[in-house]
Amino acid sequence: MGDAGRTEEKLIRSIDDLGLSPTLLKKLKEAGYKTLESVAVANINELASVVGIPTPTAQRIVSKAREALGLKFKTALELKQEWTNIGRITTGSKRLDELLGGGVETKTITEFYGEYGTGKTQICMQLSVNVQLPREKGGLGGRALFIDTEGTFRWERVEVMAKSFGLDPDKVMENIIWARAISSDHQMAIVEEAMELIPKEDIKLLVVDSVTGHFRAEYPGRENLAVRQQKLNRHLHQLSRIADVYNIAVVVTNQVMARPDIFYGDPTTAVGGHVLAHAPGVRIQLRRGRSNRRIARVVDAPHLPESEAVFIITEEGIRDIEE
Ligand code: GTP
Ligand code: MG
Repeated sequence: MGDAGRTEEKLIRSIDDLGLSPTLLKKLKEAGYKTLESVAVANINELASVVGIPTPTAQRIVSKAREALGLKFKTALELKQEWTNIGRITTGSKRLDELLGGGVETKTITEFYGEYGTGKTQICMQLSVNVQLPREKGGLGGRALFIDTEGTFRWERVEVMAKSFGLDPDKVMENIIWARAISSDHQMAIVEEAMELIPKEDIKLLVVDSVTGHFRAEYPGRENLAVRQQKLNRHLHQLSRIADVYNIAVVVTNQVMARPDIFYGDPTTAVGGHVLAHAPGVRIQLRRGRSNRRIARVVDAPHLPESEAVFIITEEGIRDIEE
């Protein structure tokens, strides 16, 4: 859009510039809305109830923050330019990259789902290393934020992966910021805090491994299904908005059971296991193949080919099969 409408917005650089009363500003900050981005991506009803203001007021504040960040009407040319800005991170396997349309994309949330041991965590650690590579080598020259909900992140593994690329392992490990989430609420709080961290720490990849574990444990059974799914959907939307606003890649994992009949009635398994059903993004199903082979399949992605890619988990990380 033209520059005319932007003159006023240029002056809005933080939530302090939104023209709010000091009391309201204080309430917002106390509720965790500390940046323009966090306000811009807020759920309006939630913001209204947490801060204790009427919904229309919340709506106005959120709109103003969105406008200030340029999240409004766009021309097709602007859309094209944004598309050109999309970054891709290599997985370490060319075939898997091709399946993903060139690698894991920024502005998108990518879900890897599959049974235990299918390589979800290995892929997340590999991507946390690979995001640091320069663009010409398949990275984004940025850092990773790894939210670990199961305590399965291994720095030793990252060290080996880094060495195999001839990178300084200590530097690579320094560029992965790790946070352990001990409950679903904690997990969501970390994501909230991440919004300040992402631009400041030059984060280009946000991992949540696994995104579903705590939710499943805390809301077990069919009777809790609706609440669990609602909470999880809110979390996933938050994540996909973060991907969009900061132009970073968001990768989440989701363990699914081998026997969906045990979880009869659970829509997350009923639709094939993925949880992104109601959030935009790319879903990749992982299966085990012979020995260390793994098979990846794209699910419900009209823009990607309906095909499969085989890769292997080697001592050094995710790789193609050499034939
Ligand atoms: P859950 O979190 O339990 O759902 O599993 P996951 O999908 O995250 O599996 P994960 O990524 O932890 O993959 C584990 C598999 O990776 C193992 O079964 C091994 O096949 C492989 N793997 C892990 N570490 C190594 C390693 O150091 N060398 C080799 N060659 N393979 C490894
Ligand atoms: Mg795992």
